[in-house]
Amino acid sequence: MSKSPAPVFDPENGIATAAKALQSGQLVGIPTETVYGLGGDATNDDAVAAIFEAKGRPSFNPLIIHLADEDSAWDHVIPCDAARKLAEAFWPGPLTLVLPRRPESGVSLLASAGLDTLAIRVPAHPTARLLLMTANTPVAAPSANKSGTISPTRAEHVAGPFAGVIAGVVDGGPCQVGLESTVIGFDGEVPVLLRPGGIAAEDIENIVGPLSNPAPDGAIASPGMLKRHYAPTTPIRLDAQDVEQGEIMLGFGAETPANAPEGSRNLSTSGDLREAAANLFAMLRELDDVGANCIVVMPIPETGLGQAINDRLRRASRPA
Ligand code: TXA
Ligand code: MG
Repeated sequence: MSKSPAPVFDPENGIATAAKALQSGQLVGIPTETVYGLGGDATNDDAVAAIFEAKGRPSFNPLIIHLADEDSAWDHVIPCDAARKLAEAFWPGPLTLVLPRRPESGVSLLASAGLDTLAIRVPAHPTARLLLMTANTPVAAPSANKSGTISPTRAEHVAGPFAGVIAGVVDGGPCQVGLESTVIGFDGEVPVLLRPGGIAAEDIENIVGPLSNPAPDGAIASPGMLKRHYAPTTPIRLDAQDVEQGEIMLGFGAETPANAPEGSRNLSTSGDLREAAANLFAMLRELDDVGANCIVVMPIPETGLGQAINDRLRRASRPA
């Protein structure tokens, strides 16, 4: 027997329910003009981990953070002049800007896969804006499709596959653009096309001049090119069962070595992979600041979110 689909909230009366669900850390399907998003409170590590779990991707890709208006967007990132011009021209709308995150942003490090930049977008769909305004928190939302399936452009595309996983999906009707947002990063003031999408490159060039392509090893890279993402400067040893003098431990589960030094961390003492994902980037950064010779990481199972956690740890442990 197949599960019955998740609730579909109507765009007027359902907004308050959907906003409350977001505030309490639940996931909600949100309509935007491009595609439906799988939304969660971007400041809640656990909600963001739940998004990755629901998507079923074997790796952490940084997510787009959705805000109700331009001013709220600048609370989280530092815009260059070109970014301000593009926001002026295309927000609200299908444009995502990747910019340096403000230290006080409060957006989960997991949402940006540990990067120092955030991808920000102010969607044009009136229902999305009303929901964002009501929830009054930044919302992380990848396209609401399971990894490897096509992007959802109707509420029912979301309600079925995510039954039991989301509190519901807000029905905003069929998406008008039907194609994901254009993603633009910046190399200084030079705009870089990270993903073609709902706004044509020519229209962007009319505002800020020629777009460049991401250099494979440059500071900005497109998703597939982000080879290392965030990596600590301290060397990392994986699948460790023991810890030696001068090392610091990133544990997992209840049974950790008795000699793990003070300052060591545990991703999840109960062995919960969602909790581990939620803690991953923040704990790596903390351990990186300790000044140890090596961060030793206990084995993490290759199931569920464990795959994405291990993928990220393996990348982080490769020499630069
Ligand atoms: O239209 C859209 O953009 C939809 C709706 C729901 O807003 N969202 C969407 O999200 O397509 P997602 O997670 O499927 O795609 C996010 C894109 C990826 O290409 C990702 O690599 C890029 O944005 N991205 C996010 N943060 C980034 C960052 N800090 N640096 C570089 N690329 C980033
Ligand atoms: Mg997608």
